[in-house]
Amino acid sequence: MLPKHIAIIMDGNGRWAQLRGRPRTFGHIKGARVAKKIITACAQQGIENLTLYAFSSENWLRPVSEVSFLMTLLRRYLKKEAANLVKENIQFTVIGEIEKLPSDVIEAIQFVKKSTEQNTGMKLTFAISYGSRNEILDAVKKIAAKVKFQEMDIQQINEDVFSKHLQTKDTPDPDLIIRTSGENRLSNFLMWQAAYSEFYFTDILWPDFTEQDLNLALIDFQKR
Ligand code: IPE
Ligand code: IPE
Ligand code: MG
Repeated sequence: MLPKHIAIIMDGNGRWAQLRGRPRTFGHIKGARVAKKIITACAQQGIENLTLYAFSSENWLRPVSEVSFLMTLLRRYLKKEAANLVKENIQFTVIGEIEKLPSDVIEAIQFVKKSTEQNTGMKLTFAISYGSRNEILDAVKKIAAKVKFQEMDIQQINEDVFSKHLQTKDTPDPDLIIRTSGENRLSNFLMWQAAYSEFYFTDILWPDFTEQDLNLALIDFQKR
């Protein structure tokens, strides 16, 4: 059986570049190309939902030059890929504190969302400026406000209601989470949603990750 939702922590761009004596930015450029390939591969395999961790809330703490490079890369990627996503019938959406992004990136996101909203194929979610703890706190605040204004009773709060207050409310929980680069942690990614996810960790650095590696993860998932 194929997973209905794959979520990927695309890690190792910096180390990949450093191993080649190049700046970290070089790894991010290659990483973006790999993301494009894997998105297409997942759509072709019939995966219904793909979530890619592109930038965490903690990544804001990186050097300003790296953050601004990543923002430029993201904006360029979105502008360049909009037409391809439409062609591939992929619906694009985002989770994370989008309001913290530079305005030109926000505009690019809105443009791609709008361009792909009629698509009926794979749902592609970019987690950008995303942190699971913050997402959970936001849900708590929304629910607390409803209780305060007597729109909800405390007894009504259950797992299902809570999930409906998360940014991922319209997407099923991931059944497979892949992390590259040999790090075996979640790094503030989909903590609530990962309660029953299968984890697949590989030492391969994200810029080296291929469709074959994706297939290995899928085969491993099918064996469990
Ligand atoms: C993942 O690669 C990409 C982002 C977090 C934006 P890293 O930049 O974390 O690369 P490493 O982990 O330092 O090698
Ligand atoms: C997680 O990777 C975030 C993304 C892949 C976008 P990091 O490299 O930022 O995570 P840590 O710092 O190693 O936990
Ligand atoms: Mg990393």
